[in-house]
Amino acid sequence: MRRHGIEEGRGGFVEGAWYIIADAARVGKRPVTVERFGTRLVLFRDERGALVAARARCPHRGADLGLGRVVDGTIECPYHGFRFASDGRCVAIPCEGRGAIARGAADALALTRYEVREHRGFVWLFWGERPAELPPVPWFEGLPADERHAHTASMEWDVPFARAMEGMLDIHHLPFAHRPWVLGVGALLDPYDVRVEGDVIHAVGVLRHDDGEPWDGRRGLKFELEVRFPGLLRLSFGKVVGGLAGCAPIDAGRTAIVGRYYLPIPVIGRLLARLGMLMEFRLIQPGDERMLASSEPRDADLDACRFVRADAGILAWHKMRRARLKAPREGEPRRLPVEPG
Ligand code: FES
Ligand SMILES: [Fe+2]
Repeated sequence: MRRHGIEEGRGGFVEGAWYIIADAARVGKRPVTVERFGTRLVLFRDERGALVAARARCPHRGADLGLGRVVDGTIECPYHGFRFASDGRCVAIPCEGRGAIARGAADALALTRYEVREHRGFVWLFWGERPAELPPVPWFEGLPADERHAHTASMEWDVPFARAMEGMLDIHHLPFAHRPWVLGVGALLDPYDVRVEGDVIHAVGVLRHDDGEPWDGRRGLKFELEVRFPGLLRLSFGKVVGGLAGCAPIDAGRTAIVGRYYLPIPVIGRLLARLGMLMEFRLIQPGDERMLASSEPRDADLDACRFVRADAGILAWHKMRRARLKAPREGEPRRLPVEPG
């Protein structure tokens, strides 16, 4: 049985990795349903406040548990009130009376749970078969130690995951796809360097005007991009602004993006980060989505494109994907990430 590594599962999703699937602030006292990897997941907090992720479909007759409520750390289905503990066990079947659980009536009713963590204000989900030892939740070096001067926001793109990641790794579209917002930014991407270390792609470059001269070390818009395969991105423009984005497939055709700006400036940093995110997600990113959603073919296809030097980051991501994807063996049963109970 394959225990480690990444493989492509049903629906074409990259398995065996941690994904940011939501802003943890979204999960309070009430359960929340999100769709990721073509599956509806309910997120709620147990009596200690720890996150629980489970299939949102109630094992009884399929109602969405996210429409229910949390009672003493258990999730109660909105339809007939069956309750499920954080370990997935069904702990109450009201219509069958108090003794039902003891009589074993709930034995076939366990919830399917998923590995989930709360880290730095994000909800992280491990998608795929659970290895004997879970890898640590990834993070990026050099980010501020807390979220005091940060703002987080979420959006959904009508774009397949691989296409969305291509968009994240694309820099030289800036002066065109975002023309009104980046006036004065040159179109020449030079210098540009892409380096791969483990599952991280580092790209550094300068967008500048093509004056026929070699770069003088000063002029132009410098950027630094880091993508941790498959869906985590860190972006820095200049010295102060740091951005982070976690992408995860909603289904085969859509992608969820949770973004965050860090602006470690005393007093006004948080406000500026909020304004930055507002501008990013309302004005800038819709330009990316428009380009990607209108691109043919709809899903990423290396053979259908003619890449240039400035696309090296995208190629590095695809190379990683190719190397680490493994088609499921014929007849191999699809496992659930966490066994109930
Ligand atoms: S469908 Fe959930 S309790 Fe009946
Ligand atoms: Fe963009």
